[in-house]
Amino acid sequence: MVIAIDGPAGSGKSTIARLLAERLQVTYINSGNIYRVLTLGCLKKGIEIKNSDSVIAFAEQAHIAYREGEIFLDRENVDALLHSDEIDKNAPLLSAIVPIRRIVNGLIRKISKGIDVVVEGRDMTSVVFPDAEHRFYLDASIETRAKRRFEQGTSELSLEEITAAIQRRDQIDRNKAEGSLKIAEGVTVLDTMGLTIEQTYDKLLAYIRPQNKKMVS
Ligand code: DC
Repeated sequence: MVIAIDGPAGSGKSTIARLLAERLQVTYINSGNIYRVLTLGCLKKGIEIKNSDSVIAFAEQAHIAYREGEIFLDRENVDALLHSDEIDKNAPLLSAIVPIRRIVNGLIRKISKGIDVVVEGRDMTSVVFPDAEHRFYLDASIETRAKRRFEQGTSELSLEEITAAIQRRDQIDRNKAEGSLKIAEGVTVLDTMGLTIEQTYDKLLAYIRPQNKKMVS
């Protein structure tokens, strides 16, 4: 079974996807983290993200592994290093390189083969798993999304700066040559504004397991 969730930054999809995977006891794959890991690896090696040939060469030989929802680059657990302002700024540029998207999508399909997964990102419902059993698009207003990111406490930016940074990322994410962020046909759209994590979880679960609907409505 594949549960695919897409949505813009701060829509709550990572929190919900992780929770769903934990409770349904299936593998959680955060595709954004794979783009972030590649960005981290390039920055560590002094590779400029705008130098796409070097970025692709790096990605082709990088060893990325996923274990219990945590991500490893060349056997180092780098999960805690992925949400700096520098990675936030550079990951959208790296993820706009089309051959990089093919490498990442291939990796995601390989990890998911033959197992049950909750997978989230920008093009999971449209490009990578258009035939997934369950497909969702989570959304929220820019104000809500910026406030959530601010409250995570991983950024040194002010609320206004985070709002502007998210708007810039949205712009890149929605205008990619491949894998752009969009509401794919047939997905269930959920606005998470004003919903707690548990309420969002309950709504998604009601679609995934309609037999539980009475318990969760
Ligand atoms: O979800 P996130 O903010 O951690 O994603 C990091 C970057 O990677 C962001 O710019 C969007 C991009 N991304 C993408 O292009 N496709 C995906 N499937 C997931 C993320």
